[in-house]
Amino acid sequence: MSHIVPLDNQSDAAIERLLDAAFGPDRHGRTAYKIRDAMPWLPALSFAVVDGDGALIGSLQSWPVALTQADGGQLPLIMVGPVAVEPAHQKGGHGRAMMDAVVAAARKLRTEPLMMIGDPEYYGRFWGFTADGTGGWNAPGPFEKRRLLALSVDGRTVGGVGMLTPRIAVAA
Ligand SMILES: CC(C)(COP(=O)(O)OP(=O)(O)OC[C@H]1O[C@@H](n2cnc3c(N)ncnc32)[C@H](O)[C@@H]1OP(=O)(O)O)[C@@H](O)C(=O)NCCC(=O)NCCS
Repeated sequence: MSHIVPLDNQSDAAIERLLDAAFGPDRHGRTAYKIRDAMPWLPALSFAVVDGDGALIGSLQSWPVALTQADGGQLPLIMVGPVAVEPAHQKGGHGRAMMDAVVAAARKLRTEPLMMIGDPEYYGRFWGFTADGTGGWNAPGPFEKRRLLALSVDGRTVGGVGMLTPRIAVAA
């Protein structure tokens, strides 16, 4: 029986293997990687799914990023992703379970808004992520505007104009 555990119980090698299997080994050039370049992932907002033998079959990481405005000021955001499920285990509810966990944890901790580059047909349908507030956001690489999504977890408005970047001052 599979279950959700904190991701920091998993080895870096197992996480990297899973991400290669889900996204392909050329994944590092993606725009999402540039947005959170050199940031550490956030243990309180990162989850794994392990099978009955303890093998890693799902991984979700979250990162401290920011919308950097023209004056250099940063509006902090939490970037969610990659969300990855081992190909043989996809469509079994594991992606939903990890996303449920991160949204619940973010609501409990009253974090900054969550953001991601992902399919609105999935992340909008189940958790309400939307591109409505991200029209003024730019990114350091190609992206589809309809796939630049955000979700407020505490009623804070999502918006602003600027460039998505790593966060300068990373909260502990
Ligand atoms: C996308 C992913 C995380 C979803 O997790 P999963 O465990 O396979 O899917 P779940 O069981 O949670 O969700 C299944 C439902 O979501 C739908 N769904 C899954 N991915 C979808 C997508 N990209 N767009 C629209 N719908 C999607 C399924 O069709 C299914 O709908 P149904 O219940 O009506 O049949 C997983 O398939 C994966 O790792 N894919 C490869 C990597 C990737 O693209 N990651 C997302 C970008 S960060």
